[in-house]
This record gives sequence, structure tokens and C-alpha cells, in this order.
Amino acid sequence: MVKAPKTRRKREPRETHERQEPEVLEPAPLRPRYSLTHRGGEIERHGDPKLAELLASALVASEDAPDDELTHGFHSHPARMHPALPAKLIPELSERDSIILDPFCGSGTVLVEALAHGRRAAGVDLDPLALRIAETRCALRDPASRARFGRTLHAIALASEDRVRMREKVEVPISRAERAYYDPHVMLELSGLYAEISRVADEADRRALELLFSAIVVKFSRQRADTNEELVKKRIRKGLVTEFFERKGEELLLRWAALYEAVPEGTDPVRLWMGDARRLPDLLGRRFSASLVFTSPPYGGTYDYARHHARRHAWLGLDTSGLRAHEIGARRNLSGQAGARKRWDDELHAVLSAIEGVLSRDGKVLFFVGDAEVARTRVAADEQLLRLAPELGLSLLAGASQPRPDFHGGVPRREHLILMARTR
Ligand SMILES: C[S@@+](CC[C@H](N)C(=O)[O-])C[C@H]1O[C@@H](n2cnc3c(N)ncnc32)[C@H](O)[C@@H]1O
Repeated sequence: MVKAPKTRRKREPRETHERQEPEVLEPAPLRPRYSLTHRGGEIERHGDPKLAELLASALVASEDAPDDELTHGFHSHPARMHPALPAKLIPELSERDSIILDPFCGSGTVLVEALAHGRRAAGVDLDPLALRIAETRCALRDPASRARFGRTLHAIALASEDRVRMREKVEVPISRAERAYYDPHVMLELSGLYAEISRVADEADRRALELLFSAIVVKFSRQRADTNEELVKKRIRKGLVTEFFERKGEELLLRWAALYEAVPEGTDPVRLWMGDARRLPDLLGRRFSASLVFTSPPYGGTYDYARHHARRHAWLGLDTSGLRAHEIGARRNLSGQAGARKRWDDELHAVLSAIEGVLSRDGKVLFFVGDAEVARTRVAADEQLLRLAPELGLSLLAGASQPRPDFHGGVPRREHLILMARTR
């Protein structure tokens, strides 16, 4: 298991006034970020008994297996898939060199496991930040490139500490509304750190450093948590942002080393596209053909991905207009409005049609989906999929479904692994 290192190199003692400040937010060992993993109830199986058993065994594995190995869990993302699902299913449902496509790749869990099994991994998402997380998590960094990154990381941390000591002001293109999410001294330290990152000449290193920044920034904002936008008072001593940043970088180096060791030699690097999964054939080109589409689309009416990473989008200057316009299953579009049920059906229909358009003749489609909440009503995701799929030439091979607790106190939601193949 990859853990954050416990030792840090020695630094100059801090100034007296800094030591007197209460340190509410301590750089405790970085905890793993949790994926969608909960103790589920009894598993229902459908279709081919052997395949259904395989799917059920993956659901069981996701209850106990660690979810922070390789680069999994390096950066938060809503509804991140438990890596035990692709780890268990990819070797059984694809061959070495198969092309595995995740058209809602999010932070890249399926892609990381595809690489670790020597498959050709391709990912699509509408959220530019999700793609940046996937890019960083899938990076195949050899020892020399990791050593260079480590040197840059430590140089930036030192420069940022100097800026904190000198209270050096720096201009960053962050709006007044966004600045309100940070205490002034935190904003100053974040700005200095970001300015140092922006000066890094090597593009791959700079992009990864921006992602480190992104991984910690919400913790230092006034926002309560990633999934909770309530504003709260946090007391954060000067220099803590930089310490967290550096430790997160050291953690990334260990994770990259673990991934590099795991990926068989000669495996192609991941390919990523930003775009709408309903337009896969246009996006990937008519010659693209996937042997396995393994994906977890948004659970209908559950999240607003466009809002979720707003703090991070702002710092990294990412354009989210595509996500705001074309996100499917968004809570803002499916809660309460007339016609929401039809809208969700239409969105999923378009997704299935696009997947069918890029699937090889004997390809398979594996969905990991949760029941939707549309206009305050639960919609069973398995029933909806199996109602829509036949029109598009796809039919059920096997399925496994398991109830999961609803964190908002509602009726338990079921999650499903649904495996389909072409009928024509
Ligand atoms: C359940 S998450 C995927 C999580 C991913 N499996 C992981 O482990 O991080 C669903 C993803 O769908 C993306 N999304 C929403 N609408 C989309 C669309 N129309 N086309 C492509 N991606 C979309 C969201 O940005 C989000 O990253």
C-alpha cells in the first residue's frame, strides 16, 4: 500500500509569531481518499450464471480491498469507482493489448487498471479537471523523470516558504468572488505557490504540480469539504499550505513508482479526449474500435459535476462551458422539472448509441451504474438500461446488483454491474 512518507527534510526553525498561532489543520499523514465503497447487502445475479458470478465477486472484492494502491485515491473525484472492480474484471473480460475505453473516465480508475494489466487505455470526459487528474494518475514516469520532478518539487517548496517569510505579494487571475473562499494569508501563500509552479518550464512537470495544488486547495479554502460548500472558519498557520503541497508531491512520487513497476513493459500510454460521450464516433474517429467499454456514467440526479470542482477549475483556469452545457444526469437538470424522466432516458439512449458506434464486432460493454433519483423518484438503473439497450443492438449477458446505503437517509440505492454484448 502506498503511504505518505513520515520523514521530512530539516527546515529553518519557524518565526516565533508563527509558532504561537494555533494549528488547527496539522499535516497529519495524508489519509486515503475513499472511493465508492460501502458494505452492501445481498447480491442479485442475472443472465449467464458464470459471468454473473464473476460480476458478483467483483462487488464483493470492492467491499474489502484497499482503494489507494498505485495512483488510486491521489486526488478526489465524486463517485470515484472502487479499483477492485476493474482490477478483478479487466483480466477476465479482455486480452493483453485489447483497447479498453472509458467514455466517462472521471479521475481514471479504469484507465489505471487497464494500464496495470497491459491493455491499451482510452478515456473521455467532459470535465477538463477530471482529464487532468486522469493524466497525472496514468503518467508512466521512469526513475529519472521522477527524480527530476522531486528536485523541482522541493525547489518550489523552498521558494514558496521564502515568499511566506517575506510576505511577498503576487498577482494571480482569481476573481474577487473566488478569493472570498480563502483567508487573506492563505490566499497569499496559495498565490505565491501557484506563481512558483507557473514558472516551471517542463510542461509535464508543471501540469503535475498544478494537480498537486488542485489536490490540496479545497482543504485550505473556507469551504467545509469537497462535497459540502458551506463556509466554515478554519485556522491555518502560515507555511502549512506549502508543507501539505510538498508532502502530497512526495506521495505522488511513491504512487508513480508503484504504477511504473506494475505496468508491463511496452504498454502504450493512455489516450485521453475531452468531449461529450454521446458523440464518441465523431470524437474518436470512425476507425476507433474498443474491445471493452468499461464505464460508470453519472448516477442520474445525484451530482452536479460542473459545480463540484469549481475551486479547482478557477485556479487552473479551466474552461467548463462544455461540462455546464452537456453534462448528463446532472442533479440540476433532473430534480423536479417536468419531463425529467424522458430527459434522463434520452441522455442514456444517446450514450448507448454512441458506445455501440465505437464497439468492435465481438466487443463487450460493462456499466457500473447506480439507481437514479429523478423528480424525487428512484429509477432502477438496471431496468432502464435493459429497456433501452435492445433498440441499439445491445443485450444483457449478465448482471449483478447490490443495495448500498443512501447517505442522505433515503431508500437504499442499488448499484449494478451490467455486462452487455452486441445482438447484431
Ligand atoms: C461517476 S463519474 C466517473 C468516475 C470514474 N469512474 C472515476 O473512477 O473517477 C462520471 C463522470 O462523467 C462525466 N460526464 C458527465 N457528463 C458527461 C458527458 N456528457 N460526456 C462525458 N463525460 C461526462 C463527469 O465529468 C464525471 O467525471
